[in-house]
Amino acid sequence: MTTQLYTNNSQLKQDTSDLAAFSPPAHLPDEATLARLATALFAEQSPLNTTSTTGQHSELNVDAANITPPPHPPQAAEPLSALSGRAPNIAYQKSLNQEYPTQIPLYPDNPERRAIASAPIIGGANLPRPPLEPHFTSIGAHSHAIPQLDLNDAKPSHDAPFYFLNFAQTDQSTATAANTAVQHTAQQQPSATDATTLPQTAGYANPLNRPQQQEQQFYFLDHAHVDVAHHKTSIDPLATPLQRSGDGLRSFDVQAIRRDFPILQQRVHGHPLIWLDNAATTHKPQVVIDRIAHFYQYENSNIHRAAHELAARATDAYEHARQVVARFIGAPSVRDIIFVRGTTEGINLIAKSWGEQNIAAGDEIILSHLEHHANIVPWYQLSQKTGAKLRIIPVDDDGQIMVSALAQLINKRTKLIAITQVSNALGTITPIAEVIQLAHANGVRVLVDGAQSVSHLPTNVQALDADFFVFSGHKVFAPTGIGVVYAKAELLDSMPVWEGGGNMIQDVTFEQVIYQPAPNKFEAGTGNIADAVGLGAALEYVEAIGIDNIARYEHDLLQYGQYALRSVAGLRPIGTAKQKASVLSFTLDGFSTEQVGQALNQHGIAVRSGHHCAQPILRRFGVEQTVRPSLAFYNTTEEIDSMVAVLQQLTQIKQRRSIQLR
Ligand code: ALA
Repeated sequence: MTTQLYTNNSQLKQDTSDLAAFSPPAHLPDEATLARLATALFAEQSPLNTTSTTGQHSELNVDAANITPPPHPPQAAEPLSALSGRAPNIAYQKSLNQEYPTQIPLYPDNPERRAIASAPIIGGANLPRPPLEPHFTSIGAHSHAIPQLDLNDAKPSHDAPFYFLNFAQTDQSTATAANTAVQHTAQQQPSATDATTLPQTAGYANPLNRPQQQEQQFYFLDHAHVDVAHHKTSIDPLATPLQRSGDGLRSFDVQAIRRDFPILQQRVHGHPLIWLDNAATTHKPQVVIDRIAHFYQYENSNIHRAAHELAARATDAYEHARQVVARFIGAPSVRDIIFVRGTTEGINLIAKSWGEQNIAAGDEIILSHLEHHANIVPWYQLSQKTGAKLRIIPVDDDGQIMVSALAQLINKRTKLIAITQVSNALGTITPIAEVIQLAHANGVRVLVDGAQSVSHLPTNVQALDADFFVFSGHKVFAPTGIGVVYAKAELLDSMPVWEGGGNMIQDVTFEQVIYQPAPNKFEAGTGNIADAVGLGAALEYVEAIGIDNIARYEHDLLQYGQYALRSVAGLRPIGTAKQKASVLSFTLDGFSTEQVGQALNQHGIAVRSGHHCAQPILRRFGVEQTVRPSLAFYNTTEEIDSMVAVLQQLTQIKQRRSIQLR
């Protein structure tokens, strides 16, 4: 069979008439041979296959538009035993609810089914929703008493709840331009609705519905020491999803924000996706996706290296992103901002450059018990290499670091405290300003791991007086593979380079290399240009909404989640610090964390279960793993209700089983 067979009409007609006269031989080829021949025939006929065996392009006399692709036959109803790798999902569901089917029926009118019909089926992730709803107890009929929020808890006091906004109090006149713009806009643009954007949900008292008098207490927030004149944003504040409704909390239009995130519009297992895995990574708003597409469509080039137009555009876009980062974290200069792949690479850079230069045998590095492996392993490696010692700030039973113990740990040999601002496993907010003060009083440098804080709390490295601050773009609505190291200029000037290559040099001979000043000397090779640009767009988006607005909203959402989870029998919260952000870690009696994660996944709810790359702190609480829902500003109380309902269903199944066993 060759393509020549179909290269002209007369030949095709000839072939067709030959076929009409065809009478099958007594012995047809076997099935496998037929299948092979059929595949070859389809390959020949494919409109994509326009190259003859001689390598010449041949003109197909076949109207490509009229070729009906071979039908994709609907999948037959599959008995459970034939499900292979997908079986555990159904089997697991069935173990939760006996009414689940043992086979997947076909639903010709099921939109999920249609949408996924041509998608590869891997591990059950694309299975349609089983026909029977799991039997949730309605929220109003929980068998466990649902705790009501004590509104007194929400009253601001000296140490709560907006402690995190006190660390860098500034004059009201330094309000960020984004907020100013938003307030200004709000005055000009009456909202479409004044109704609260987070309606009271059944069952749990909604902390967002506090009396206005209390809400107004939270309107004191401003602490970004930014140069307002310098504070420009490319996001049109008129298009930001903030509404004016006369008070702060209700002006946060979470539904409008959700519309900015296309990924949140999808369904998983037939349910609207509920993304509660924000500590692992956050989703990207359309403006970020568009910005990256725009970069590749109109600006793509290497940077700093050529005189042509696209090199100039790409360089401008990249350096603009650096300006946005500097502004967002309150850095005094763009020269203090180094782009890296993420927090892990950032901490490695500091350990290998500043660390190897400044830390020797007998010196001490203080870490907290809360640290992510990314802020343990590089220091462990350095201590192995140099003979330095690691010392650990303990935490109390709520997961709060013990500052009094830190004071005891610091001594003349202490060179560095490397500490997270928010624990990824427990959500604890550390008293970072106090730690830095104590450290500096003793001549000790401080590295702040901001991976879990930048998207939840205002950051101001100057107000904090942080020596180093590190974060990842993907945790703050930007792409993966891009992150930032901030360091004080005097440190960057004296720190040796850690990687060598192009882009970071002024002059190279075989005898001598002269490096660029910071930040370039730390950015060897071609960096992640497009994603740095995406990071700039993400931070501008956050600025336009206002990190203070985000912090307030999330604070209430977290409080709501903590109370709602208390209604689940057998749930043990891990990490109950007074000052927390985003994270709601827990274990559930009678279920492995993986089982809980899978059950939630079956309802479209994404959480992380596991050790969260923070084994030391989990072991401090006697566990190896937790289930870890983690919130972002696009989450809602309704989503928390859905999660709690699944957890309650699990515990009810367990209760039923134990009754049956008696
Ligand atoms: N550091 C990320 C987490 O906590 C991956 O899940």
